[in-house]
Amino acid sequence: MADNWKKRIAVTGGAGFIGSNFLLYLVDKYPDYFFVNIDALTYAGNLSNLVSIEGKSNYRFVKLSICDFEGLGRCFIENDIDSVIHLAAESHVDRSIYGPASFVETNIGGTFNLLEQARRRLADGVGFRFYQVSTDEVYGALPPEGTFTEESPYRPNSPYSASKAGADHLVRAYHKTYGLDTVISNSSNNFGPFQFPEKLIPLSVRNALAGKTIPVYGDGLQVRDWLYVADHCRALDAIFHRGRPGGGYAVSARNEMTNLDLVRTICRIIDDLRGGGPREELIELVADRPGHDRRYALDPNLLESELGWSATADFHDALEQTVRWYLDHADWLERCISGEYRTYYEQVYGKR
Ligand code: NAD
Ligand code: TYD
Repeated sequence: MADNWKKRIAVTGGAGFIGSNFLLYLVDKYPDYFFVNIDALTYAGNLSNLVSIEGKSNYRFVKLSICDFEGLGRCFIENDIDSVIHLAAESHVDRSIYGPASFVETNIGGTFNLLEQARRRLADGVGFRFYQVSTDEVYGALPPEGTFTEESPYRPNSPYSASKAGADHLVRAYHKTYGLDTVISNSSNNFGPFQFPEKLIPLSVRNALAGKTIPVYGDGLQVRDWLYVADHCRALDAIFHRGRPGGGYAVSARNEMTNLDLVRTICRIIDDLRGGGPREELIELVADRPGHDRRYALDPNLLESELGWSATADFHDALEQTVRWYLDHADWLERCISGEYRTYYEQVYGKR
C-alpha cells in the first residue's frame, strides 16, 4: 500500500444502497485517497455491487461491525484513518417497528463507538473529520405546507428515526465537547440502483414484474421528497470536503410526491417498457404503518447557497432510468430476495 495517500477515509456501510453508489463514484474520482469500506454485511450489504472497484489499489474492504469497538480501533490504526464518512445503519422503518433493538445497537451504539475511536485519533494528533450521514426523518412529520430546514427541531416518530436522531445528537456533542471536526447531513428519500427490495421503489418494480399486488400503506397520500442517489453522492462529496465544521446540511431535490402517484408512475413506466398491463391494477391499499409520518419535505437552500450544490437529475428521467436498471438487473433483485447474494463474500473473500 502506498503511504502517501492524501486522505485515508473509512466509509462505513459501503456495501449498502447509498454506500455502493457513493464508493463507485469516490474510488474513481479520488485516485489519491485511500478508502476503507467497513461493513458488517448484514442482509442489506451486498458486496457484489462493488466488483468493479474490488481490485483498485486505493480501495479495501474490511468485514467489521461498528458495534465492535476494539475491532474499529485496530482498523483505524492499521489503516491510519483520518476521516469517517458514516453511512452504516439499520435503515428500514418497518424493520425498526418489528425489532428496534438492532437499530439502537447499530445506529446509536455503533455511532458512539466510531466517535470514541475518532476522539482517540484526535488525541493522537490526527486532524480527524467525522461525517454523519443522516435522514430528514429525524424531524418528524410535516403538515401539508412548509419544509424542514437545518434549524427544525428533532421530533422523530419511529424507532429508526429516533435512533438516527440519537446518533446525530452524539455527533453534535462530540463537536461541542471535544472539538471533533464533525459535519452532518440530513437527506430526503433516495432512489436509484442497488436499493434493497424492501423499500418502496424496488419493491413496487419487483412486484409489478412478478404480477404480484403492490402494497401501498393507508390511503397512499403520504408525501415523500425523492432524491436521485447520484445527486446525493455529489452532495456527500461537497459536504465532506467543504461542509462547515460543526455544521449541518439538508439535502433535497424539492421533489415531493404522494406514494400513490409514485407507484402509479412506476407501473406506467413498466407498461411502456414491457407492454401489457395496466399494472396499476396491482396496487392495493393495505393497513397503514404504525406511526406513519404524513409528509416530509426539505429545503436545501443552505447547501445550494453555501456549497454551490444543486440537484441536476430530472425526476421523471431518473425514475425511468432506475426502473430500467431494476428491469435489466432482475437477477440482482431475485438474488436479494432469495438471499443468494450473501454467498458472494465467501466466494470472493473466503479463499483469501
Ligand atoms: P442500507 O440499509 O442499504 O445499507 C446499510 C449498510 O450498512 C449495509 O451495507 C449494511 O451491511 C451496513 N451495516 C448495517 N449494520 C452495520 C454494522 N453494525 N456495522 C457495519 N455495517 C453495518 O442503507 P442506505 O439506504 O444505503 O442508507 C445509508 C445511510 O444513509 C444510513 O445511515 C441511512 O440512515 C442514511 N439515509 C438513507 C436514506 C435513503 O433514502 N436510503 C435517506 C437519508 C439517509
Ligand atoms: P420506504 O421506502 O420504506 O422509506 P421510508 O419509510 O424511509 O420513507 O417507504 C417510502 C414510503 O412508502 C413510506 O411512506 C412508506 C410507504 N410504503 C408503502 O406504502 N408500501 C410499502 O410496501 C413500503 C415498503 C413503503
